[in-house]
Amino acid sequence: MSPAGWPAEPNPSVMKSRIVITGVAGFIGSNLAERLLAEGYEVAGLDNLAYGLRGQIPAGVKFFELDIRDRQLWEVLQPDDVVFHLAAKNCISDCQDDPVETAAINVTGTVNVFEASRRAGVAKVVYAESSALYEGTAVIPTPESELHPQSFYAVSKLAGMAFAEAFRRYHKMRMTALRYFCVYGPKQDYRRAIPPVMSAFIIRLMSGGQPVIYGTGEKRRDFIHVDDLNDFHLRCITDSRTDGRVFNLGSGVNYSVKDIYQQVAKLLGSETPPAYRPDLPGEAAETLADISAARALGWRPKITLEQGLASFVGYYRANGVPRLEN
Ligand SMILES: NC(=O)c1ccc[n+]([C@@H]2O[C@H](COP(=O)([O-])OP(=O)(O)OC[C@H]3O[C@@H](n4cnc5c(N)ncnc54)[C@H](O)[C@@H]3O)[C@@H](O)[C@H]2O)c1
Repeated sequence: MSPAGWPAEPNPSVMKSRIVITGVAGFIGSNLAERLLAEGYEVAGLDNLAYGLRGQIPAGVKFFELDIRDRQLWEVLQPDDVVFHLAAKNCISDCQDDPVETAAINVTGTVNVFEASRRAGVAKVVYAESSALYEGTAVIPTPESELHPQSFYAVSKLAGMAFAEAFRRYHKMRMTALRYFCVYGPKQDYRRAIPPVMSAFIIRLMSGGQPVIYGTGEKRRDFIHVDDLNDFHLRCITDSRTDGRVFNLGSGVNYSVKDIYQQVAKLLGSETPPAYRPDLPGEAAETLADISAARALGWRPKITLEQGLASFVGYYRANGVPRLEN
């Protein structure tokens, strides 16, 4: 064992597993696929391309253009696969506008992924929940036990969580749930009605526009770089201590939206002030992860906000600045 308590070498039988990612054309899915390929895994993925981009799927991924609600999904899975279920409708304001589609994708679609996994006899399912499950909590930093979902998006994730628990109970499936806080990094989805703050600020300033802050900018968020997330994803494949458990994945530090704005403006040498618009309803004033459960297994977030933002800006410099629609 390593000093941190992790097996020094990954379990060779698990190394042979093929990894299947739902939502592989999206932000986290495409980054995960890239990392897994670099680590020598065979990777397959599916996506209906509703929000993700085909061009983001790394070469080397066996891709299936498929909706997670498709009952034939189990046919693309193989016994011993490890499935990362990331596909979701996840823009909170879009989910508020269409709770029926939110439930169809995030609840029915998720149950279909679990059932397909059971039917195909996969080795393990790792699935994405969200810090939105803590929307109404007053406990900061927030441990995994503090469930207070409010929005339709959060409630849909809660339903997925309950189904996962039932699949685990009745079918003895190996499952791990991950509650991501605000994830950032290359390929973050900026095409939403309300784009995530970091990509929105960087893109707007790099293209000579004026970024928008909703509300006063005092809301605080726990941001985690996608590479740190992937470190934990890898551990979910190889460490059975993650089975049957849920983990917060944040950095354990939070920053106000204004802080982020100032850091991005400084990095880009911009003096453009942000435009302020009315606050978005239903958003938590503060998020901050209690990451002691993940830390206890030896995981640490390694990328500081300064490093993460600098590499994010570098990504847009190298790849060109896209156009924001909103
Ligand atoms: N990005 C974050 O900060 C964050 C925070 C908390 C939780 N999450 C969760 O992590 C997961 C991944 O998020 P992301 O940021 O990569 O989102 P994303 O929107 O970039 O990717 C989601 C992918 O799922 C696909 N998809 C949506 N509906 C589908 C369907 N019916 N069938 C097949 N594919 C479908 C989309 O086309 C997209 O490529 C989601 O479950 C999300 O709720 C993300």
